[in-house]
Amino acid sequence: MITEATKARFAKEVAKYPPEQKQSAVMACLSIVQQELGHVSPESEKAIAEYLGMAPMAVHEVTTFYNMYNQQPVGKYKLNVCTNLPCQLRDGQKALKHLEGKLGIAMGETTPDGLFTLQQCECLGACADSPVMLVNDRTMCSFMSNDKLDQLIDGLRAAGGASKSSAEQP
Ligand code: FES
Repeated sequence: MITEATKARFAKEVAKYPPEQKQSAVMACLSIVQQELGHVSPESEKAIAEYLGMAPMAVHEVTTFYNMYNQQPVGKYKLNVCTNLPCQLRDGQKALKHLEGKLGIAMGETTPDGLFTLQQCECLGACADSPVMLVNDRTMCSFMSNDKLDQLIDGLRAAGGASKSSAEQP
């Protein structure tokens, strides 16, 4: 459900473009919805499409192209491990496997306590720092040995368990 307050935020983004190019605000509108609801549902895509005068499929194409958009609810900490080829050659897959074991979930799943979602992602532009990962689409973590992965998870678990309801960034 898109509220009037959300539509007011959309309007500010749309105002940055010429009237005939208001679709240019689609990424900003998707980000707003995700900030407010945690993910972008098909219903939200439809509402954005209607607001911007676009085909719902055109909005869906944007949502599915960028993996920073969550198509379903995710845990408090979204972990994206790069498994593109250069990282594959430098332990990217090993880091992903280690996290699967540490968290007790498979890639694409969320831990039962709602704290962690584990995903793989495309190149993060830091191939020389592999294994690399992104936490909550913002915090880049480089040279993630198994020890560093354990420290990261233990630290986030301690912080997340203390304030589960907040949407704080690590
Ligand atoms: Fe992983 Fe480039 S392939 S950061």
